[in-house]
Amino acid sequence: MLLCLLVLAVPMAAIAEDAEEGSPTPIRTLTAEQSVVAAANYEKYCVLCHGAERQGYVNDHAPSLRSKSLFESGIPHAVLRTLSYGRQGTAMGGYLDEVGGPLTLDETWDLTYWLFEQSGAKRVAMSTEAVLGDIERGELLYHQECSACHGENGEGVTAPAIGNSSALAYNSDEFIRYAIRHGREDTEMRAFSQTLSAADIDSITAFIRSRAGGWELQETVLQELPTPDHYVINKDGEDPDFDLTDDIFVSAADLYKALQEKQKMMLLDTRVTSVWQTAHIEGSFTLPYYSDFDAIVTDLPKDVMVVAYCSCPRAAAEWVVEELRQRDYAKTAVLYEGIYGWIKLGYPVMRVAIHESSDSPTADVPPEHEGR
Ligand code: HEC
Ligand code: HEC
Repeated sequence: MLLCLLVLAVPMAAIAEDAEEGSPTPIRTLTAEQSVVAAANYEKYCVLCHGAERQGYVNDHAPSLRSKSLFESGIPHAVLRTLSYGRQGTAMGGYLDEVGGPLTLDETWDLTYWLFEQSGAKRVAMSTEAVLGDIERGELLYHQECSACHGENGEGVTAPAIGNSSALAYNSDEFIRYAIRHGREDTEMRAFSQTLSAADIDSITAFIRSRAGGWELQETVLQELPTPDHYVINKDGEDPDFDLTDDIFVSAADLYKALQEKQKMMLLDTRVTSVWQTAHIEGSFTLPYYSDFDAIVTDLPKDVMVVAYCSCPRAAAEWVVEELRQRDYAKTAVLYEGIYGWIKLGYPVMRVAIHESSDSPTADVPPEHEGR
């Protein structure tokens, strides 16, 4: 009541100014049932890297999913889109069914809002205007202040790949500036508003944005997943005799050699299914870390060598191999370098057809969801 009166007392000019910034639409609250499902989905799909307490850094420096500044500034787009479409070239895959992931659009929305509720953050109105600044100065400052963690080319070292084209496609200028100003609580990312001027922060933001040039969103054409009769490759080949490090790891060089020699094996892609759609090692099939292993093993012979890989670079694959070993699969190994290591070493992958799309991605806020 008191609040209403106060608002009424504000002169019109001030209201107009506020409205320009755009007031955040009210957030939908989840029903108890939706919360339970979202929490279960988090447990099943996200804990592996982001941790049981959403603290981050369990695998492959996956960022915190509980810092207030992320949820103040990133709800819903930055969070929803990342979780739906992933960030190409990082361990973060897309979880939306549209790109071949396991979650429906409603489930990704509920998970987004569940994370928001858990964070306890209040949504902040974010400007959608471009942040202008001196790009050259921004570049200089970026290399002084940021590249040690975020990489010379924004590729991410110990911190997120902020120059990643999928991140830049989804993150607004204001979202980036907000992160620089406020940092991310309880992480290595400190608040730079204490040490850099507002103009310098704008310049760094403008520099980061300037790296996004020319990138188009691409739509994956979903491929049929291999059926069990295609799981074993080189059926008439010899069994590989890998020299495993720590009783589990096979090197990319040894795996490549065995594939060249047409040795008999099963190649498991243990990442979220959508990234298999984008690129995978030829002959592999998807057995994601969140599979129902008791159900799936009926299709997997026990006498054929299994090599599992992921991109994180090993965590998901180790998880799957552990599950298989508990079910008496003795001939199992994990690709040590992971698929990005494999690619960096120059070994081939199958890339799936993509068609360029000028449309915005469908996880844009659909009208019926606005303000949920
Ligand atoms: C295999 C490891 C892995 C799994 C599993 C995973 N993530 Fe991630 N996630 C990452 C990494 C790594 C990044 C940072 C990528 C980068 O460099 O930008 C990330 C980034 C994110 C971000 C962006 C955060 C920010 O600060 O901008 C969100 C949101 C996110 N993940 C949500 C999820 C959710 C929700 C799930 C479960 C459905 C999930 N992730 C599963 C590894 C993972
Ligand atoms: C000491 C290492 C470190 C330095 C230096 C650093 N950052 Fe970060 N930054 C991080 C980490 C770690 C995160 C992820 C935090 C989390 O878990 O949410 C992050 C997150 C971010 C994000 C949010 C990314 C997203 O997807 O949500 C932006 C933007 C960012 N940093 C920009 C910068 C800029 C610009 C600078 C230089 C002015 C800088 N950072 C300096 C470690 C660092």
